[in-house]
Amino acid sequence: MLSGIQPTADSFHIGNLLGAVQYWPRLQDTHDAFYCVVDLHAITVPTEPKDLHHRTLVSFAQLIASGIDPERSAVFVQSHVHEHAELMWVLSCLTGFGEAGRMTQFKDKAQKAGAESTNVGLFTYPVLMAADIILYGANAVPVGEDQRQHLELSRDLVQRFNARFGETLVLPEPYIMRGTAKINDLQDPTSKMSKSSPTGVVNLLDPLKTIEKRIKSAVTDSETEIRFDPVGKPGVSNLLTIIHGFTGRPMDEIVASFEGRMYGDLKKEAAAAVLAYAEPFQARVHELLADRAELERLMAMGAAKAQAVASATLDAVYEAVGFVRRSGR
Ligand code: TYM
Repeated sequence: MLSGIQPTADSFHIGNLLGAVQYWPRLQDTHDAFYCVVDLHAITVPTEPKDLHHRTLVSFAQLIASGIDPERSAVFVQSHVHEHAELMWVLSCLTGFGEAGRMTQFKDKAQKAGAESTNVGLFTYPVLMAADIILYGANAVPVGEDQRQHLELSRDLVQRFNARFGETLVLPEPYIMRGTAKINDLQDPTSKMSKSSPTGVVNLLDPLKTIEKRIKSAVTDSETEIRFDPVGKPGVSNLLTIIHGFTGRPMDEIVASFEGRMYGDLKKEAAAAVLAYAEPFQARVHELLADRAELERLMAMGAAKAQAVASATLDAVYEAVGFVRRSGR
C-alpha cells in the first residue's frame, strides 16, 4: 500500500484527514505500508524555498502524529528516493499527450493559473504520481475521491507497460472510503474543501479558537431540520459527515440524535469532535518538531526502507525496457 500528501500548506486540513490520512495508521495492521510527503509534486506550483522546507517537516511530523508508526511503515520524503523521478521518465514515454491533457485536476489548475504560468510539471504531475505507486508494487492506494482519475491513469500505465514489456508491474486499486471521500468547504458546501479557500477550510494546526469559529460560521440553509441529504442540504450534510468522520459513529445514529434539535447544536458537536482530535494532535506535532535530530533520523530510516523496494522495481523496469545495465553494481 502506498499513499502520499503534498507539503503545500502549513497544516493538513480536515478533508485530508477524513478522506485519506485517518485510514493510513489503521491500514498498517493489514498491509506493508509506504507513506510519502510528495515534495516533488509540490513544486508544480511556485513555492518559496523556505516555505517548502518548513511544510515538508511539518507534513512529516503530522503523518507521525496521526498515528503512523515509523518503525512498522516506511514514512519518507519523496525527493529522498531518486527512483521516483527516474521511473516517471520511463512512464512519461508511455503516456499520451491527449491522455495527460484530459486529467480534470490539470485542466482546473491550468485554467486558474492561465496558460503563461502553467508549467510542464503540472501536466506530468499524474505520471509522477503513477511512479510513486508503481515503485512499491502498491495494490491499494487510500485516497479521497478527487484522486480517482489519477489512479485510473496509473492502472492504464501498468497495463500498457506489462503488455508491451512483459508482466513486470503490479496493478493498483483505489481504496476510497465512501462515507468521507469528499469533505466540502464550510462556506461553499457544494465544492471540495481545499487549502486555497480562506475561510471554508479547517486546518488541524490552526489555533483551537479559529477551528471553533470556522465551524460555528459554517453555511447551512434556511430550514431547521437536521437530516443527511447531500444534494438538498449540502451544508448540514457536510457537518454530519464531519461528526461521522471524527467519531466513527454510524450516520443513522448521528442523525437520530439530532431529532428536534437546532443547527447551533449540530455545529457545537461538529466543533467538539474536531477539537477532541486537534488538541492532542497539535501537542504531538509540536513535540516532534522540537526534536529536529529525531525527525531527521526518522526521515532517513523511512527513506532507506522505501529505497530498498523502489530500487528493485526500477531495476526490473530498466531491464524490461532494454537499457544496458551498468556493470559492477
Ligand atoms: P493532496 O496533498 O491534495 O491531498 C492528500 C489527500 O487528501 C485527500 N483530500 C480530500 N479528501 C476528502 N475531502 C477533501 N476535501 C479532500 N482534499 C484532499 C486527497 O484525495 C488525498 O488523498 N496527488 C495527491 C498526492 C499524491 C499521491 C501520490 C496520492 C502524490 N503521489 C500517490 C496517492 C498516491 C494529492 O494531491 O494529494
